[in-house]
Amino acid sequence: MDRIRIVGGNKLNGTIPISGAKNAALPLMIAALLTDETLILDNVPRLADVAQVQRILGNHGVDIMSAGKRPGDHHQGQTLHISAANIIDTTAPYELVSTMRASFWVVAPLLARMGECKVSLPGGCAIGTRPVDLLIMALEKLGAQIQIDGGYVIASAPNGLTGAEIEFPKVTVSGTHVALMAATLAKGRTVILNAACEPEILDVADCLNKMGGKITGAGTPRIVIEGVKKLHGARHTVLPDRIETGTYAMAVAMTGGDVQLAGARPELLQSALDVLVQAGATVTPNNEGIRIQRNGAGISPVTVSTAPFPGFPTDLQAQLMALMACAKGSSHITETIFENRFMHVQELARFGARISLDGETATIDGIASLKGAPVMATDLRASVSLVIAGLAAEGETMVNRIYHLDRGFERLEEKLSACGANIERISG
Ligand code: EPZ
Repeated sequence: MDRIRIVGGNKLNGTIPISGAKNAALPLMIAALLTDETLILDNVPRLADVAQVQRILGNHGVDIMSAGKRPGDHHQGQTLHISAANIIDTTAPYELVSTMRASFWVVAPLLARMGECKVSLPGGCAIGTRPVDLLIMALEKLGAQIQIDGGYVIASAPNGLTGAEIEFPKVTVSGTHVALMAATLAKGRTVILNAACEPEILDVADCLNKMGGKITGAGTPRIVIEGVKKLHGARHTVLPDRIETGTYAMAVAMTGGDVQLAGARPELLQSALDVLVQAGATVTPNNEGIRIQRNGAGISPVTVSTAPFPGFPTDLQAQLMALMACAKGSSHITETIFENRFMHVQELARFGARISLDGETATIDGIASLKGAPVMATDLRASVSLVIAGLAAEGETMVNRIYHLDRGFERLEEKLSACGANIERISG
Protein backbone atom coordinates (compact mmCIF):
# COMPACT_ATOMS: atom_id res chain seq x y z
CA MET A 1 0.00 0.00 0.00
CA ASP A 2 1.39 3.43 -0.94
CA ARG A 3 2.62 5.79 1.77
CA ILE A 4 3.76 9.39 1.82
CA ARG A 5 7.05 10.35 3.45
CA ILE A 6 7.57 13.95 4.50
CA VAL A 7 10.57 15.62 6.08
CA GLY A 8 9.09 18.72 7.65
CA GLY A 9 10.39 22.19 8.23
CA ASN A 10 10.59 23.67 4.72
CA LYS A 11 8.66 26.83 3.96
CA LEU A 12 6.42 26.70 0.89
CA ASN A 13 7.25 29.16 -1.90
CA GLY A 14 6.03 29.21 -5.48
CA THR A 15 2.80 28.56 -7.39
CA ILE A 16 0.21 25.83 -6.91
CA PRO A 17 -2.33 25.35 -9.70
CA ILE A 18 -5.82 24.66 -8.32
CA SER A 19 -7.69 21.75 -9.90
CA GLY A 20 -11.36 21.46 -10.82
CA ALA A 21 -13.65 20.81 -7.85
CA LYS A 22 -14.19 17.13 -7.06
CA ASN A 23 -17.56 17.85 -5.47
CA ALA A 24 -18.80 19.59 -8.62
CA ALA A 25 -17.23 17.16 -11.10
CA LEU A 26 -18.96 14.13 -9.55
CA PRO A 27 -22.58 15.43 -9.77
CA LEU A 28 -21.86 17.01 -13.18
CA MET A 29 -20.76 13.64 -14.53
CA ILE A 30 -23.87 12.04 -13.02
CA ALA A 31 -26.07 14.74 -14.62
CA ALA A 32 -24.95 13.43 -18.03
CA LEU A 33 -27.42 10.57 -17.44
CA LEU A 34 -30.24 13.10 -17.91
CA THR A 35 -29.70 13.41 -21.68
CA ASP A 36 -29.14 11.14 -24.67
CA GLU A 37 -26.77 13.75 -26.16
CA THR A 38 -23.10 14.29 -25.27
CA LEU A 39 -22.13 16.38 -22.26
CA ILE A 40 -18.57 17.70 -22.47
CA LEU A 41 -16.93 18.60 -19.17
CA ASP A 42 -13.65 20.52 -19.06
CA ASN A 43 -11.28 20.83 -16.09
CA VAL A 44 -12.28 17.48 -14.56
CA PRO A 45 -9.66 16.53 -11.95
CA ARG A 46 -7.84 13.20 -12.30
CA LEU A 47 -8.96 11.57 -9.05
CA ALA A 48 -9.90 8.13 -7.81
CA ASP A 49 -13.48 9.32 -7.11
CA VAL A 50 -13.83 10.57 -10.71
CA ALA A 51 -12.60 7.21 -12.00
CA GLN A 52 -15.15 5.52 -9.73
CA VAL A 53 -18.04 7.57 -11.19
CA GLN A 54 -16.73 6.65 -14.65
CA ARG A 55 -17.04 2.98 -13.67
CA ILE A 56 -20.56 3.50 -12.33
CA LEU A 57 -21.70 5.34 -15.46
CA GLY A 58 -20.02 2.66 -17.60
CA ASN A 59 -22.15 0.07 -15.85
CA HIS A 60 -25.28 1.92 -17.02
CA GLY A 61 -23.98 1.86 -20.61
CA VAL A 62 -22.59 5.39 -20.70
CA ASP A 63 -19.69 6.07 -23.10
CA ILE A 64 -16.92 8.25 -21.69
CA MET A 65 -13.96 9.53 -23.62
CA SER A 66 -11.15 11.48 -22.00
CA ALA A 67 -9.64 14.03 -24.38
CA GLY A 68 -6.53 16.17 -24.10
CA LYS A 69 -6.54 19.92 -23.68
CA ARG A 70 -7.46 22.24 -26.53
CA PRO A 71 -4.90 24.88 -27.56
CA GLY A 72 -5.33 27.88 -25.27
CA ASP A 73 -6.96 25.94 -22.42
CA HIS A 74 -5.60 27.17 -19.10
CA HIS A 75 -7.16 24.54 -16.90
CA GLN A 76 -5.22 21.57 -15.55
CA GLY A 77 -7.67 18.74 -15.73
CA GLN A 78 -8.99 16.38 -18.35
CA THR A 79 -11.91 16.91 -20.72
CA LEU A 80 -14.55 14.21 -20.57
CA HIS A 81 -17.04 13.56 -23.37
CA ILE A 82 -19.91 11.72 -21.69
CA SER A 83 -22.66 10.18 -23.76
CA ALA A 84 -25.62 8.42 -22.17
CA ALA A 85 -27.35 7.79 -25.53
CA ASN A 86 -28.30 4.27 -24.46
CA ILE A 87 -28.90 3.41 -20.83
CA ILE A 88 -28.63 -0.38 -20.82
CA ASP A 89 -29.06 -1.04 -17.10
CA THR A 90 -30.85 0.98 -14.39
CA THR A 91 -29.32 -0.95 -11.48
CA ALA A 92 -26.36 0.54 -9.58
CA PRO A 93 -24.90 -2.44 -7.69
CA TYR A 94 -23.49 -2.54 -4.18
CA GLU A 95 -19.92 -3.21 -5.40
CA LEU A 96 -19.89 0.11 -7.26
CA VAL A 97 -21.92 2.34 -4.94
CA SER A 98 -20.66 1.21 -1.54
CA THR A 99 -17.27 2.92 -1.74
CA MET A 100 -18.44 6.44 -2.47
CA ARG A 101 -21.49 8.30 -1.26
CA ALA A 102 -21.95 10.53 -4.32
CA SER A 103 -22.48 7.48 -6.53
CA PHE A 104 -25.90 7.05 -4.92
CA TRP A 105 -26.98 10.28 -6.63
CA VAL A 106 -27.48 8.38 -9.93
CA VAL A 107 -30.87 7.57 -8.41
CA ALA A 108 -32.16 11.01 -9.51
CA PRO A 109 -31.31 11.09 -13.25
CA LEU A 110 -32.09 7.39 -13.72
CA LEU A 111 -35.52 7.81 -12.17
CA ALA A 112 -36.25 11.09 -13.98
CA ARG A 113 -35.26 9.82 -17.43
CA MET A 114 -35.98 6.08 -17.27
CA GLY A 115 -38.89 6.04 -14.79
CA GLU A 116 -37.25 3.37 -12.63
CA CYS A 117 -34.01 2.34 -10.97
CA LYS A 118 -32.49 0.16 -8.29
CA VAL A 119 -29.55 1.71 -6.47
CA SER A 120 -27.55 0.28 -3.59
CA LEU A 121 -27.47 2.30 -0.39
CA PRO A 122 -24.20 4.28 -0.33
CA GLY A 123 -20.90 4.12 1.55
CA GLY A 124 -18.20 6.81 1.63
CA CYS A 125 -15.86 8.43 4.13
CA ALA A 126 -16.41 7.31 7.73
CA ILE A 127 -17.39 10.71 9.10
CA GLY A 128 -20.83 10.01 10.53
CA THR A 129 -23.98 8.03 9.84
CA ARG A 130 -24.76 9.97 6.64
CA PRO A 131 -28.33 8.79 5.97
CA VAL A 132 -30.26 9.27 2.70
CA ASP A 133 -33.72 9.87 4.21
CA LEU A 134 -33.90 13.43 2.89
CA LEU A 135 -32.96 12.37 -0.63
CA ILE A 136 -35.74 9.81 -0.55
CA MET A 137 -38.18 12.36 0.87
CA ALA A 138 -37.36 14.70 -2.03
CA LEU A 139 -37.95 12.00 -4.65
CA GLU A 140 -41.22 10.94 -2.99
CA LYS A 141 -42.41 14.57 -3.06
CA LEU A 142 -41.81 14.47 -6.82
CA GLY A 143 -44.13 11.46 -7.01
CA ALA A 144 -41.68 8.55 -6.93
CA GLN A 145 -42.68 5.26 -5.32
CA ILE A 146 -39.80 4.05 -3.20
CA GLN A 147 -39.08 0.82 -1.37
CA ILE A 148 -35.93 -0.19 0.45
CA ASP A 149 -35.19 -3.87 0.15
CA GLY A 150 -32.02 -5.92 0.66
CA GLY A 151 -29.82 -2.83 0.95
CA TYR A 152 -31.21 -1.35 -2.28
CA VAL A 153 -33.44 1.64 -2.95
CA ILE A 154 -35.96 0.56 -5.57
CA ALA A 155 -37.61 3.60 -7.13
CA SER A 156 -40.24 3.95 -9.81
CA ALA A 157 -42.24 6.67 -11.49
CA PRO A 158 -43.85 4.98 -14.50
CA ASN A 159 -45.62 8.15 -15.62
CA GLY A 160 -42.71 10.44 -14.86
CA LEU A 161 -42.05 12.77 -11.94
CA THR A 162 -44.24 15.75 -11.12
CA GLY A 163 -43.05 19.13 -9.82
CA ALA A 164 -43.66 19.84 -6.12
CA GLU A 165 -42.54 21.97 -3.18
CA ILE A 166 -39.63 20.32 -1.35
CA GLU A 167 -38.63 21.88 1.95
CA PHE A 168 -35.54 20.37 3.55
CA PRO A 169 -35.62 20.35 7.39
CA LYS A 170 -31.83 20.75 7.36
CA VAL A 171 -29.41 21.99 4.73
CA THR A 172 -28.20 19.07 2.65
CA VAL A 173 -25.89 19.21 -0.35
CA SER A 174 -26.76 15.68 -1.48
CA GLY A 175 -30.50 16.28 -1.03
CA THR A 176 -30.31 19.49 -3.05
CA HIS A 177 -28.32 17.84 -5.89
CA VAL A 178 -30.80 14.97 -6.09
CA ALA A 179 -33.89 17.21 -5.98
CA LEU A 180 -32.40 19.54 -8.60
CA MET A 181 -31.46 16.80 -11.05
CA ALA A 182 -34.77 14.96 -10.68
CA ALA A 183 -36.89 18.12 -10.98
CA THR A 184 -35.34 19.25 -14.30
CA LEU A 185 -37.29 16.50 -16.12
CA ALA A 186 -40.42 16.58 -13.89
CA LYS A 187 -43.76 17.87 -15.18
CA GLY A 188 -44.36 21.42 -13.96
CA ARG A 189 -42.70 23.57 -11.34
CA THR A 190 -40.58 22.47 -8.38
CA VAL A 191 -39.58 24.80 -5.57
CA ILE A 192 -36.73 23.68 -3.29
CA LEU A 193 -36.75 25.49 0.06
CA ASN A 194 -33.83 25.59 2.52
CA ALA A 195 -31.66 24.43 -0.39
CA ALA A 196 -27.90 24.12 0.06
CA CYS A 197 -26.12 27.23 -1.29
CA GLU A 198 -22.75 25.58 -1.92
CA PRO A 199 -20.97 26.82 -5.08
CA GLU A 200 -21.00 23.26 -6.45
CA ILE A 201 -24.84 23.36 -6.51
CA LEU A 202 -24.71 26.56 -8.55
CA ASP A 203 -22.16 24.99 -10.90
CA VAL A 204 -24.42 21.99 -11.52
CA ALA A 205 -27.46 24.25 -12.03
CA ASP A 206 -25.49 26.37 -14.53
CA CYS A 207 -24.60 23.24 -16.47
CA LEU A 208 -28.20 21.94 -16.37
CA ASN A 209 -29.35 25.31 -17.75
CA LYS A 210 -26.82 25.00 -20.59
CA MET A 211 -28.41 21.59 -21.26
CA GLY A 212 -31.83 23.24 -21.66
CA GLY A 213 -32.97 23.17 -18.01
CA LYS A 214 -34.98 26.06 -16.54
CA ILE A 215 -33.52 26.70 -13.11
CA THR A 216 -33.42 29.97 -11.20
CA GLY A 217 -32.22 30.78 -7.70
CA ALA A 218 -29.41 28.19 -7.45
CA GLY A 219 -26.84 29.41 -4.93
CA THR A 220 -29.68 30.74 -2.73
CA PRO A 221 -31.93 28.81 -0.30
CA ARG A 222 -34.88 28.94 -2.76
CA ILE A 223 -34.39 27.22 -6.10
CA VAL A 224 -37.17 27.17 -8.69
CA ILE A 225 -37.14 24.59 -11.47
CA GLU A 226 -39.57 24.59 -14.39
CA GLY A 227 -39.47 21.02 -15.65
CA VAL A 228 -38.67 20.38 -19.32
CA LYS A 229 -39.41 17.31 -21.46
CA LYS A 230 -35.86 16.73 -22.63
CA LEU A 231 -32.34 18.00 -21.99
CA HIS A 232 -29.67 18.25 -24.68
CA GLY A 233 -25.87 18.15 -24.88
CA ALA A 234 -23.68 21.02 -23.65
CA ARG A 235 -20.12 21.99 -22.76
CA HIS A 236 -19.21 23.12 -19.25
CA THR A 237 -16.02 23.88 -17.31
CA VAL A 238 -15.85 22.59 -13.71
CA LEU A 239 -15.29 25.40 -11.20
CA PRO A 240 -12.03 25.49 -9.13
CA ASP A 241 -11.84 23.36 -6.01
CA ARG A 242 -12.40 25.59 -2.96
CA ILE A 243 -11.42 22.84 -0.53
CA GLU A 244 -8.13 22.18 -2.31
CA THR A 245 -7.57 25.97 -2.31
CA GLY A 246 -8.24 26.24 1.43
CA THR A 247 -6.07 23.20 2.16
CA TYR A 248 -2.98 24.63 0.46
CA ALA A 249 -3.68 28.04 1.99
CA MET A 250 -3.61 26.42 5.44
CA ALA A 251 -0.43 24.54 4.57
CA VAL A 252 1.29 27.84 3.72
CA ALA A 253 -0.08 29.48 6.87
CA MET A 254 1.40 26.61 8.87
CA THR A 255 4.86 26.28 7.27
CA GLY A 256 5.30 29.96 6.44
CA GLY A 257 6.25 31.14 2.96
CA ASP A 258 4.63 32.77 -0.05
CA VAL A 259 2.46 30.85 -2.52
CA GLN A 260 0.24 31.87 -5.41
CA LEU A 261 -2.83 29.60 -5.64
CA ALA A 262 -3.35 29.87 -9.38
CA GLY A 263 -6.92 29.78 -10.64
CA ALA A 264 -8.42 29.96 -7.12
CA ARG A 265 -11.53 32.10 -6.64
CA PRO A 266 -11.69 33.94 -3.29
CA GLU A 267 -15.49 34.27 -3.25
CA LEU A 268 -15.75 30.46 -3.06
CA LEU A 269 -14.11 30.37 0.38
CA GLN A 270 -14.33 33.83 1.92
CA SER A 271 -15.10 32.53 5.42
CA ALA A 272 -12.00 30.30 5.41
CA LEU A 273 -9.84 33.16 4.09
CA ASP A 274 -11.17 35.40 6.88
CA VAL A 275 -10.14 32.76 9.44
CA LEU A 276 -6.65 32.55 7.88
CA VAL A 277 -6.26 36.31 8.18
CA GLN A 278 -7.30 36.12 11.85
CA ALA A 279 -4.71 33.37 12.27
CA GLY A 280 -1.99 35.70 10.97
CA ALA A 281 -1.68 34.90 7.25
CA THR A 282 -1.69 37.57 4.57
CA VAL A 283 -4.31 36.82 1.92
CA THR A 284 -4.21 38.79 -1.33
CA PRO A 285 -6.73 38.04 -4.07
CA ASN A 286 -5.36 38.99 -7.50
CA ASN A 287 -6.14 38.45 -11.19
CA GLU A 288 -4.53 35.02 -11.29
CA GLY A 289 -5.94 33.63 -8.06
CA ILE A 290 -5.05 34.11 -4.40
CA ARG A 291 -1.63 34.83 -2.88
CA ILE A 292 -1.01 33.47 0.64
CA GLN A 293 1.91 34.56 2.78
CA ARG A 294 3.04 34.13 6.34
CA ASN A 295 6.42 35.47 7.20
CA GLY A 296 7.79 35.86 10.69
CA ALA A 297 4.64 36.33 12.77
CA GLY A 298 3.33 33.35 14.75
CA ILE A 299 -0.07 31.72 14.32
CA SER A 300 -2.90 33.28 16.35
CA PRO A 301 -5.62 31.05 17.86
CA VAL A 302 -9.18 31.19 16.48
CA THR A 303 -12.69 30.09 17.45
CA VAL A 304 -14.60 28.60 14.54
CA SER A 305 -17.79 26.58 13.94
CA THR A 306 -18.36 24.71 10.71
CA ALA A 307 -21.56 25.64 8.87
CA PRO A 308 -23.20 25.24 5.47
CA PHE A 309 -21.98 27.67 2.77
CA PRO A 310 -21.15 30.56 3.12
CA GLY A 311 -19.98 29.45 6.58
CA PHE A 312 -16.68 27.76 7.37
CA PRO A 313 -16.69 24.42 5.48
CA THR A 314 -16.62 21.13 7.36
CA ASP A 315 -14.26 19.90 4.63
CA LEU A 316 -11.58 22.32 5.98
CA GLN A 317 -12.11 21.57 9.66
CA ALA A 318 -9.33 18.97 10.01
CA GLN A 319 -6.82 21.16 8.14
CA LEU A 320 -7.61 24.13 10.41
CA MET A 321 -7.10 21.91 13.43
CA ALA A 322 -3.62 20.96 12.21
CA LEU A 323 -2.81 24.66 11.79
CA MET A 324 -4.10 25.55 15.26
CA ALA A 325 -1.92 22.83 16.81
CA CYS A 326 0.95 25.35 16.59
CA ALA A 327 -1.00 28.53 17.46
CA LYS A 328 0.10 30.79 20.30
CA GLY A 329 -2.80 29.96 22.65
CA SER A 330 -6.03 27.94 22.75
CA SER A 331 -8.38 27.53 19.79
CA HIS A 332 -11.90 26.11 19.72
CA ILE A 333 -13.33 24.32 16.69
CA THR A 334 -16.96 23.14 16.68
CA GLU A 335 -18.14 20.63 14.07
CA THR A 336 -21.85 21.10 13.36
CA ILE A 337 -22.32 19.16 10.09
CA PHE A 338 -21.09 15.61 10.77
CA GLU A 339 -21.23 14.04 14.22
CA ASN A 340 -18.11 11.90 13.94
CA ARG A 341 -15.68 14.04 12.03
CA PHE A 342 -12.86 14.06 14.57
CA MET A 343 -10.94 10.95 13.50
CA HIS A 344 -7.87 13.11 12.87
CA VAL A 345 -7.64 14.16 16.54
CA GLN A 346 -5.89 11.01 17.72
CA GLU A 347 -3.57 11.03 14.71
CA LEU A 348 -2.65 14.71 15.23
CA ALA A 349 -1.83 13.78 18.83
CA ARG A 350 0.99 11.57 17.47
CA PHE A 351 2.73 14.77 16.35
CA GLY A 352 2.45 16.03 19.94
CA ALA A 353 -0.66 18.18 19.29
CA ARG A 354 -2.67 18.90 22.45
CA ILE A 355 -6.34 18.53 21.58
CA SER A 356 -9.26 17.66 23.85
CA LEU A 357 -12.78 16.87 22.74
CA ASP A 358 -15.99 17.83 24.46
CA GLY A 359 -18.99 16.74 22.36
CA GLU A 360 -18.86 18.64 19.10
CA THR A 361 -16.10 21.00 20.19
CA ALA A 362 -12.35 20.48 20.07
CA THR A 363 -10.05 22.64 22.17
CA ILE A 364 -6.56 22.89 20.75
CA ASP A 365 -3.80 24.15 23.03
CA GLY A 366 -1.09 25.32 20.66
CA ILE A 367 2.49 24.17 21.16
CA ALA A 368 5.73 25.65 19.80
CA SER A 369 6.39 22.89 17.28
CA LEU A 370 5.15 19.46 16.20
CA LYS A 371 7.37 16.39 15.89
CA GLY A 372 7.16 14.07 12.85
CA ALA A 373 5.53 10.67 13.43
CA PRO A 374 4.08 7.64 11.64
CA VAL A 375 0.34 8.31 11.18
CA MET A 376 -2.64 6.71 9.50
CA ALA A 377 -5.00 8.47 7.12
CA THR A 378 -8.65 7.84 8.03
CA ASP A 379 -10.76 9.86 5.61
CA LEU A 380 -10.05 12.25 2.80
CA ARG A 381 -9.84 15.60 4.59
CA ALA A 382 -8.42 14.08 7.79
CA SER A 383 -5.62 12.59 5.68
CA VAL A 384 -4.58 15.89 4.25
CA SER A 385 -4.54 17.46 7.73
CA LEU A 386 -1.81 14.92 8.58
CA VAL A 387 0.15 15.97 5.50
CA ILE A 388 -0.09 19.62 6.56
CA ALA A 389 1.07 18.74 10.07
CA GLY A 390 3.95 16.70 8.60
CA LEU A 391 5.08 19.63 6.42
CA ALA A 392 5.47 21.81 9.51
CA ALA A 393 6.73 19.17 11.96
CA GLU A 394 10.38 18.60 12.84
CA GLY A 395 11.79 15.45 11.28
CA GLU A 396 10.17 12.61 9.38
CA THR A 397 6.45 11.82 9.02
CA MET A 398 5.12 8.73 7.29
CA VAL A 399 1.43 8.94 6.28
CA ASN A 400 -0.03 5.46 5.79
CA ARG A 401 -3.21 4.49 3.90
CA ILE A 402 -3.02 7.37 1.48
CA TYR A 403 -5.62 5.97 -0.93
CA HIS A 404 -8.00 8.39 0.81
CA LEU A 405 -5.87 11.30 -0.44
CA ASP A 406 -6.00 10.04 -4.01
CA ARG A 407 -9.78 10.28 -3.87
CA GLY A 408 -9.69 14.05 -3.63
CA PHE A 409 -6.27 15.66 -4.18
CA GLU A 410 -4.81 15.70 -7.67
CA ARG A 411 -0.98 15.40 -7.84
CA LEU A 412 -0.61 16.41 -4.19
CA GLU A 413 3.08 15.48 -3.76
CA GLU A 414 3.99 17.07 -7.09
CA LYS A 415 2.24 20.35 -6.27
CA LEU A 416 3.83 20.58 -2.82
CA SER A 417 7.36 19.54 -3.90
CA ALA A 418 7.29 22.20 -6.61
CA CYS A 419 6.98 24.71 -3.75
CA GLY A 420 9.94 23.32 -1.82
CA ALA A 421 8.30 20.65 0.37
CA ASN A 422 10.32 17.51 1.04
CA ILE A 423 7.56 15.01 0.26
CA GLU A 424 7.56 11.76 -1.70
CA ARG A 425 5.27 8.82 -2.39
CA ILE A 426 6.63 5.43 -1.49
CA SER A 427 4.95 2.70 -3.52
CA GLY A 428 4.23 -0.82 -2.34
C1 EPZ B 1 -21.28 16.80 0.60
O1 EPZ B 1 -21.65 15.59 1.25
C2 EPZ B 1 -19.84 16.67 0.23
N1 EPZ B 1 -19.66 15.53 -0.67
C3 EPZ B 1 -19.00 16.47 1.50
O2 EPZ B 1 -17.64 16.42 1.14
C4 EPZ B 1 -19.24 17.66 2.43
O3 EPZ B 1 -18.56 17.45 3.64
C5 EPZ B 1 -20.74 17.84 2.70
O4 EPZ B 1 -21.46 17.93 1.45
C6 EPZ B 1 -21.07 19.07 3.51
O5 EPZ B 1 -20.58 20.20 2.86
C7 EPZ B 1 -19.84 15.69 -1.97
O6 EPZ B 1 -20.22 16.74 -2.46
C8 EPZ B 1 -19.54 14.52 -2.86
P1 EPZ B 1 -24.97 16.67 3.16
P2 EPZ B 1 -23.17 15.25 1.46
O7 EPZ B 1 -26.04 15.95 2.47
O8 EPZ B 1 -23.90 15.79 0.29
C9 EPZ B 1 -27.29 14.97 6.98
C10 EPZ B 1 -15.50 15.46 0.99
O9 EPZ B 1 -14.59 15.23 1.82
N2 EPZ B 1 -28.20 14.26 6.06
O10 EPZ B 1 -24.92 18.16 3.00
O11 EPZ B 1 -23.25 13.81 1.77
C11 EPZ B 1 -25.88 14.38 6.97
O12 EPZ B 1 -25.78 13.24 7.76
C12 EPZ B 1 -16.94 15.16 1.35
O13 EPZ B 1 -15.31 15.88 -0.15
C13 EPZ B 1 -29.30 13.64 6.58
O14 EPZ B 1 -29.55 13.64 7.79
O15 EPZ B 1 -23.52 16.09 2.74
C14 EPZ B 1 -25.07 15.55 7.46
O16 EPZ B 1 -25.13 15.60 8.86
C15 EPZ B 1 -17.08 14.54 2.67
N3 EPZ B 1 -30.14 12.97 5.73
C16 EPZ B 1 -25.81 16.77 6.90
O17 EPZ B 1 -27.13 16.30 6.56
C17 EPZ B 1 -29.93 12.93 4.38
O18 EPZ B 1 -30.73 12.31 3.67
C18 EPZ B 1 -25.19 17.37 5.66
O19 EPZ B 1 -25.00 16.33 4.69
C19 EPZ B 1 -28.81 13.60 3.86
C20 EPZ B 1 -27.94 14.27 4.71
